[in-house]
Amino acid sequence: MSRLSVLLLLAGSIGCGSSSPEPANPVHPNGGSKGTASGGSAAGGTTGGGAGVTSSGGSDGTATGGAAAGAAGGTGGTAGTNGSTGGSGATPSSSASAAYSDIPCNVAAVLQNNCASCHGATPAFGAPMSLTRAADFTKKAKDGTHTIGQAVITRINDDQTPMPQPPNARLNAADNSTLATWIQAGAKAESCSTSAATTGAPDAVLTTDPSGPGITCYDIKARDSSGNKFSVPTTPDLYHLFYYAPPWGTTKVHMISWRPIIDNKAVIHHWLFYNSDAAVADKTDADGGGAHPNAQLTCGWAPGGRGFVLPDGIGQDVSGAGFVLETHYNNTTGAPSPDSSGVRVCVTTNLRPKEAGIHWLGTELILLPAGGDAVGTCTPTAVTGPVNILAATPHMHLQGRRMKTIINRKDGTKETLLDKPFDFNTQIGYDTPTVIMPGDTLTTTCTYGGAAIYGEGTKNEMCYNFVLAYPNGALSSGSFLRKNGCTGL
Ligand code: HEC
Repeated sequence: MSRLSVLLLLAGSIGCGSSSPEPANPVHPNGGSKGTASGGSAAGGTTGGGAGVTSSGGSDGTATGGAAAGAAGGTGGTAGTNGSTGGSGATPSSSASAAYSDIPCNVAAVLQNNCASCHGATPAFGAPMSLTRAADFTKKAKDGTHTIGQAVITRINDDQTPMPQPPNARLNAADNSTLATWIQAGAKAESCSTSAATTGAPDAVLTTDPSGPGITCYDIKARDSSGNKFSVPTTPDLYHLFYYAPPWGTTKVHMISWRPIIDNKAVIHHWLFYNSDAAVADKTDADGGGAHPNAQLTCGWAPGGRGFVLPDGIGQDVSGAGFVLETHYNNTTGAPSPDSSGVRVCVTTNLRPKEAGIHWLGTELILLPAGGDAVGTCTPTAVTGPVNILAATPHMHLQGRRMKTIINRKDGTKETLLDKPFDFNTQIGYDTPTVIMPGDTLTTTCTYGGAAIYGEGTKNEMCYNFVLAYPNGALSSGSFLRKNGCTGL
């Protein structure tokens, strides 16, 4: 089957949910030569007319190759991770050593294990340069005042915009010192004759999908209006929106997992996936980003994020009438480049006993002409028993620097739900398994680096912590416009 027909098939599979009158698409076997790995059987024999899982068919899909080592997908037994542990896996990779041929072995190992997924011989995910040859470290950095080597030392010790970028793990003290010592001594070329540099290739995204009666997975991806790959222009920092009607139609479903589909590493930087209350024009797309009136962040991915599997017995409410996949591109290849990255969501029509929903913590009282903190305390009115918080996804705009949510226990003690640096360009979720009891409140503090005025455009600011919790609606103050809103207003 030609690539084009695979793509057309794929495009057709979206919007062909179980209630669709269109004929069912054949289930396309997973795994092109280098596409996404196993797990596609999830779709076989599921709901009548189910669209089936198709291979995402990326020419260099990151979901391939040994990554299964770290994959928790498919078990459903434990919550997967939104990415907080992503990137630390050490998956053997045999082909990368040549790239480090003039870097000492111990340094090469640090680079290979921690930087190569973005700063490889061909930089990916918006990284501006390779870090694979000694000479890469003595070149001038972007601003021209210092070398890349100096920038490396700064960034590996920078708590606000660290390298590796979140959600990838920071360097441990030994690796930090190995890299910094070599750079400080002049980043001298020295050949590595052993194979010490050949371990580790951190692209450990989930590679399998849950399977079982009632479960169908859908790929919601970048595409043009004909369903072909989206042609990414060379515009720097392009934000583009892809609109989808729920591919399962009006049938009530629970989302039980999501994982990233990464097609064109050279141009995709990150994406956010919103479920909006209002319907959208299916299969359309438009430039823009940041403004999502009445839409909640269902999940978000930045390089290093792995995906998420809901725990057994819990399903996520995705009943908003429309979906928006917001992609951020950085195409520096010099020519338009096709991409079909996005998200694979698996849903079940066998509704799980417990329903989790996204709750809006934070505040809209943001009026900080010189930056600073905006604070909102959520006093839930709907809590009559324990509320289980599974994950938290901070959302601010360009001036956002840090988000913190503190649990104020009824007995006066305080616990930290989340306290993380924020970077608009790498918005990710964190696993935050916690139980809230009646009488507890949640205070969210958003810190801004510059003028911050509330609004929906990218240049205005927001302060939302999208908290996934069950029972659905429990963290609602009942006084706020948005569904499950719980702010200090
Ligand atoms: C998940 C992808 C990813 C990983 C892993 C990663 N980086 Fe980066 N890096 C980026 C991106 C994207 C940028 C550009 C945006 C920015 O500066 O934050 C960048 C920028 C940088 C810069 C700034 C370059 C300049 O000219 O100012 C340095 C230095 C850097 N990275 C070093 C490292 C080192 C060292 C490692 C490993 C220890 C690493 N990075 C791991 C994605 C990554």
